[in-house]
Amino acid sequence: MDLYEKLLEVSRLFRIEYDYLGYETIQMGNVNRTYKVNFMLPEGKPKSFLVQNVNTYAFRNPVGLMENIDKVTEHIRRKKPGQTALHFHHTADRKTYVIDGENFWRMTNYVPSVTYNVVKDLDIVRNAGMAFGEFQTELMDFDIHELIETIPGFHNTRKRYESLGEAIRLDPVGRVAQVGPEIRWLMEVQDLACKLTDLQMAGELPLRVTHNDTKINNVLFDPQTNQGMVVIDLDTVMPGLMGHDFGDAIRFAGNFVEEDCPDYEKAGVDLEVFRAFAQGFLSQTAQSMTRKELDTLSLSCFALTAELCVRFLDDYIRGDKYFKINSPDHNLVRTRCQIALAKDMLEKMARMEQIVRECAAQL
Ligand SMILES: Nc1ncnc2c1ncn2[C@@H]1O[C@H](COP(=O)(O)OP(=O)(O)O)[C@@H](O)[C@H]1O
Ligand SMILES: [Mg+2]
Repeated sequence: MDLYEKLLEVSRLFRIEYDYLGYETIQMGNVNRTYKVNFMLPEGKPKSFLVQNVNTYAFRNPVGLMENIDKVTEHIRRKKPGQTALHFHHTADRKTYVIDGENFWRMTNYVPSVTYNVVKDLDIVRNAGMAFGEFQTELMDFDIHELIETIPGFHNTRKRYESLGEAIRLDPVGRVAQVGPEIRWLMEVQDLACKLTDLQMAGELPLRVTHNDTKINNVLFDPQTNQGMVVIDLDTVMPGLMGHDFGDAIRFAGNFVEEDCPDYEKAGVDLEVFRAFAQGFLSQTAQSMTRKELDTLSLSCFALTAELCVRFLDDYIRGDKYFKINSPDHNLVRTRCQIALAKDMLEKMARMEQIVRECAAQL
């Protein structure tokens, strides 16, 4: 069966009975396969749905993940009736997915919108911060125990370091000799990089519902106003820390260069982007944040960046088993670029903390 027919079959299983017009492939995103599937309503108006083929290699527990997503989107919808929100469709037997062989399908409402991969426009960055902040606050009264930890230890930085240590001992492809300076630096900053994890373990930071993939292309924006409309890509929603979402967003959007830029000296955190994102995020969250959460937001940017350095280097040493690579040294380039960013964050830490205080005080 070709994709044209498959998408029709899946839509029928999700009980969409309108006349089928066909599908368009959405190129944005690099984990799942995403399609806009088009129908004609009886009154002659077109209507689209979003169908995704979930990457079950990346997400090993897709059923658990869909349970999380269903609960979270349901909660958000109850909070803002009548406003744009994600809604996952159910099959006749009340499932939010259709499994056929290797494929795991889901369907949601299609939101006419724009998405941006790289953004330097500070208004859009601020609006993205606002959207992710709003996502946090909408879920503040959600019972965290209802969520399955679909990727256990995802942001346990201590565990990530342990894995790196093991990779170094095993040295399975003989690459350790090449990366002495990177290993030394990461070991030097280990305690600071793990501080968020340690505070979490000590119960000093509250567990929240976190998104865990706070890239700007996971916000749908209004094409006219560029206001954030809805946060998407909820595959990694799990219990976590406020700083995980804030820190990873800055790591991604705040860097002067892309995450794998080989001109390492150009990597660094753009404080204007940092300020814009912090303004948006804090405008939604500052009221309900604890003092400690606020005080560790800037540290979280460093911690998340260092954690990713550890993961890239771990994968490089183990022979590129996890991250997709475009060249044999891709993971090494990523490691070095993220180390350069992390070093710059350390130098600018006092400025970043100052900006967070200013943003919180302006509210
Ligand atoms: N409900 C939706 N309405 C309109 N466009 C969407 C919707 N969900 C996703 N998209 C588009 O599809 C892209 C990929 O979706 P996403 O869930 O982020 O997949 P991935 O996990 O592959 O990043 C998004 O960047 C966005 O452009
Ligand atoms: Mg995405």
